[in-house]
Amino acid sequence: MSEPTFSCIATSAFGTEGLAASDLRRLGFRDAKAETGGARFSADPAGIYLANLRLRTADRVLIVLAEAMCRTFEDLFQLVSSIPWEKIVTPDGRYHVSGKCVRSQLMSVRDCQAVAKKAIIERLSRTTGRSRFPETGVEFPIEIGIYSDMARVSLDTSGAALNRRGYRTWNGEAPLRETLAASLVELSPWRPGMRLHDPCCGTGTILIEAAYRAAHRAPGLTRSFACDGFPQFRDTDRDGIRRSVESDVDYDRIGMISGSDIDQEALTLAQRHVRQAGLNGKIDLQHCPLQDLQLSGEPGVFICNPPYGERLSDRKTCEKLYADLGKLHKRHPGWSLCAISSDPMFERAFGRRAVKKRRLYNGRLECEFMIFDEK
Ligand SMILES: C[S@@+](CC[C@H](N)C(=O)[O-])C[C@H]1O[C@@H](n2cnc3c(N)ncnc32)[C@H](O)[C@@H]1O
Repeated sequence: MSEPTFSCIATSAFGTEGLAASDLRRLGFRDAKAETGGARFSADPAGIYLANLRLRTADRVLIVLAEAMCRTFEDLFQLVSSIPWEKIVTPDGRYHVSGKCVRSQLMSVRDCQAVAKKAIIERLSRTTGRSRFPETGVEFPIEIGIYSDMARVSLDTSGAALNRRGYRTWNGEAPLRETLAASLVELSPWRPGMRLHDPCCGTGTILIEAAYRAAHRAPGLTRSFACDGFPQFRDTDRDGIRRSVESDVDYDRIGMISGSDIDQEALTLAQRHVRQAGLNGKIDLQHCPLQDLQLSGEPGVFICNPPYGERLSDRKTCEKLYADLGKLHKRHPGWSLCAISSDPMFERAFGRRAVKKRRLYNGRLECEFMIFDEK
């Protein structure tokens, strides 16, 4: 019997929707298309499971259950009631409703959550004949998103966001989200097999994401997903999919990947993360200020996330650091350098114009990812 196909969205940060769509197409989801906030695609449960395991740049994989214009709570109630919850959730499930309202008449997230929950319980009472819902079983994360009055009700198959790969258990100074680090790697001119160095590597996120990409290591291999407990996924051969994804990993494909930082504590964390990521011996780490860094051998690509100097007092130090990054680039002929920063003075301080720029958000901070080639 063929499995049902669902309309899905792989949500992703602003500016990375196209990357999420390419990520999906590479996995065989040929209809994947970028839209605001993510990429749409259709998949059966096995495909959804695979997407959760393998996507590098997306935050979550959602099954879209219903969409319609909703300008009143009654509209929202009717929309949520129209979904066959009795076929989707278990009667003892925990129905956790989260919400987001943007530029809409319905702007109270709390009220939307309460209305949606009431509609779910009423529908379940009507269709199952039960009067009590203990909510002690599997969690069903349900999302209500209302954007310009268009409401979307979806079931989150990921649970914890996909950036939670499992290797980061300690955070250093302003660590980069794993999904954003994977996006930077993708947007950079670096490709597996090339040399890569992060001269302010902090806790090592960019390096680990690049090594995973080179080794074909699925980022979700050691974690679980919300859909593990969903009835629709019960007959999906999740272990088989995991085994096949696992058999694809080849750590020997990792080329020369290295990083350095001025902060020994950050490097200690990086070392732990590398170990937890299963990459021991695959990434070289060095305690060195970037002002003194001199790499020999094949040229490659620098990718970095230097401090941004959001406070005025830090601004000068950061601009000096950007100038030092410019010098680092100059003394490494043949190398490209890519940096993400929210500082509008970055290029001026660096001393060169970027050949390519991309607007991205690091958390709530609007940033630019800049690529500098050698002159
Ligand atoms: C925003 S954090 C990088 C975070 C990193 N991407 C991560 O995921 O953990 C900036 C890093 O630049 C390092 N740094 C600052 N000044 C430096 C210098 N002169 N040389 C090398 N590293 C420096 C800091 O120690 C810090 O780890």
